[in-house]
Amino acid sequence: MTATHRTTIHILGLGAMGTVLAVDLLRFTNALVVPLFRSQERLAQFQEANGNKTSIRKIYLEGAPLLSYPIERSECPESFSKKPIDNLVVTTKTYQTKEALAPYLPYINENTNLILIQNGLGILQLLREEIFIDSKNRPNLFQGVISHGVYQDNAGVLNHAGWAGMKIARLPWTDEDMIQKKIIVKQDLANNSLVKLLMEPKFAKEFGMEHSTYQEMLSGQLFKFLVNACINPVTATLDCINGEIKDSCGPIFRSIIDECLQILRLAYKPLFEYREKFGGNDEYPDMNVNEVLTTDNMVSEVTRIGCDINAKNSSSMRQDSLFLRDIEIEFINGYVVRLASKLNLDPNSSKVNKTIQEMASLRLALNRSRKINGDWRSE
Ligand SMILES: NC(=O)c1ccc[n+]([C@@H]2O[C@H](COP(=O)([O-])OP(=O)(O)OC[C@H]3O[C@@H](n4cnc5c(N)ncnc54)[C@H](OP(=O)(O)O)[C@@H]3O)[C@@H](O)[C@H]2O)c1
Repeated sequence: MTATHRTTIHILGLGAMGTVLAVDLLRFTNALVVPLFRSQERLAQFQEANGNKTSIRKIYLEGAPLLSYPIERSECPESFSKKPIDNLVVTTKTYQTKEALAPYLPYINENTNLILIQNGLGILQLLREEIFIDSKNRPNLFQGVISHGVYQDNAGVLNHAGWAGMKIARLPWTDEDMIQKKIIVKQDLANNSLVKLLMEPKFAKEFGMEHSTYQEMLSGQLFKFLVNACINPVTATLDCINGEIKDSCGPIFRSIIDECLQILRLAYKPLFEYREKFGGNDEYPDMNVNEVLTTDNMVSEVTRIGCDINAKNSSSMRQDSLFLRDIEIEFINGYVVRLASKLNLDPNSSKVNKTIQEMASLRLALNRSRKINGDWRSE
């Protein structure tokens, strides 16, 4: 890389996650960060209201500084330069992905690196079956599992509340490629412009970036998925703060986790058989998901992380439900229901997650109805 080389990185979804990433890329690298807005109106709003700057308050740092960085170039479908995209970060909500990508599809090709930084599962299937149907013209896909916590306060300021890092890996397009050799990580680190940028030492250290094989990232992703599958819909449905259910959540968390794991074990079979097949083989990293992803361990981990460490937290799904925004349930519990059907399992095999999905959706519908019709309990 020459001294003047700049990597261009487009960010689709400059919300909480897009901004936390953009600010640190601007702080610690010389990348050209280009946000892609949904419309001319949203672009103009950003340019006028924000003075063309992206900002975040680092509330975990002493003095909680508000960091602001100018954005050199920002675009929207109407103003897009119509040149191929080299590196694309997707940080929209999961259910917004298809619509958000649509205007840029002609500029995404087999040389594009596309990284998904979203909670939940099932976007890969959506990309494969509904968006990049032609297997010869698919981008290089990566997945980021982000643990940083960011929320928007009443004044509209984004607050980076919890510093907890991010894991990235190359995301295989097909299940047959689920298990990767260590060499894939080495090759991407040496040759792939997106991985090289995200793993630049200064940025990687400050952002807590870890780069691994897919199976290593996937085990962390499934762990986080189970936390989300319990905490999000249950707190949203009950309309409670996480810690309030600490002593009573055991049975429902056990039912959700047990059912999820039975289905995930079938859908991600190579991961759960990994130790037997690849244990002791130096070409593959050493790991054993069967010790971590068990019902007993996950019930206690989800309760510890969700209701103890984050006792005072209000989950993102509860927040979305309270503010009458759509919820990501289709890509959390709903994903497990779809998987069961895709695997031709008996519909009863996913009935817990189906009910949980329906209850969370019902809670959002109730909140919306109360906004229009009032709260009948107080009449
Ligand atoms: N926030 C967290 O702490 C956190 C932590 C871990 C993981 N996550 C996950 O990260 C993902 C993103 O969450 P978030 O909290 O960053 O959501 P967010 O703040 O709502 O950001 C989403 C952004 O996407 C934009 N967007 C939506 N549709 C678009 C379109 N068609 N074209 C261009 N931009 C579009 C939205 O812009 P508009 O304002 O125009 O709609 C918004 O700026 C989710 O899957 C979430 O679960 C979040």
